[in-house]
Amino acid sequence: MKNIAVFASGNGSNFQAIVNAVKKGKLKANLKLLVCDNPKAYVLERANKAGISVFLIERQNYAGKKEFEDAIIGRLKAEKIGLIVLAGFMRILSAGFVRQFKSKILNVHPSLLPSFKGAHAIKDAFNYGVKVAGVTVHLVDEKVDHGPIILQEPVRVSQRDTLKSLEKKIHKEEHRIYPEAIRLFVSGRLKIEGRNVRVE
Ligand code: GAR
Repeated sequence: MKNIAVFASGNGSNFQAIVNAVKKGKLKANLKLLVCDNPKAYVLERANKAGISVFLIERQNYAGKKEFEDAIIGRLKAEKIGLIVLAGFMRILSAGFVRQFKSKILNVHPSLLPSFKGAHAIKDAFNYGVKVAGVTVHLVDEKVDHGPIILQEPVRVSQRDTLKSLEKKIHKEEHRIYPEAIRLFVSGRLKIEGRNVRVE
């Protein structure tokens, strides 16, 4: 079974969805580690409850981004991590980091990429007035919110939607498709050719 590390910075509802999928036996993987860069994040409580080891690492305790990332890489190697799952990790990983784990990092983003990249995708899409928002799960490459797309799910925006209600709808879809995308990845059924990802 593949060893997975989830990276998260905040609430951790996606982390929870992954934990639940593993517990229910829907996702056959060894959820080995939570990497968190924020000592106030609620995801830390979730990990403790689920009995998952936590690597809490604060950027401010390191001289530079390289030292910070090297410390993370050291821990990932020690734990023999085969897949990194970014779940609301609000930092951009360097190209050097991404190269070390080429095609082994997944990310969930709350928009239909390539629309609305960045840290405020739901708000940006809502304010833009889109009629269809959505969720993307993709492989991470050296560019932000850019790598090959594994799964995408549209979410209709109704006239009655508020930013809050849209957020709720989007999170619900994230919690459904992220564990599913991870399941496809660990099953070895994903064939990646350039930007094209097929399920075999
Ligand atoms: C999720 O909506 C995720 O898609 C988003 O952060 C949220 C984390 O929620 N990620 C990004 O915007 C990355 N650019 P969570 O902590 O409850 O899982």
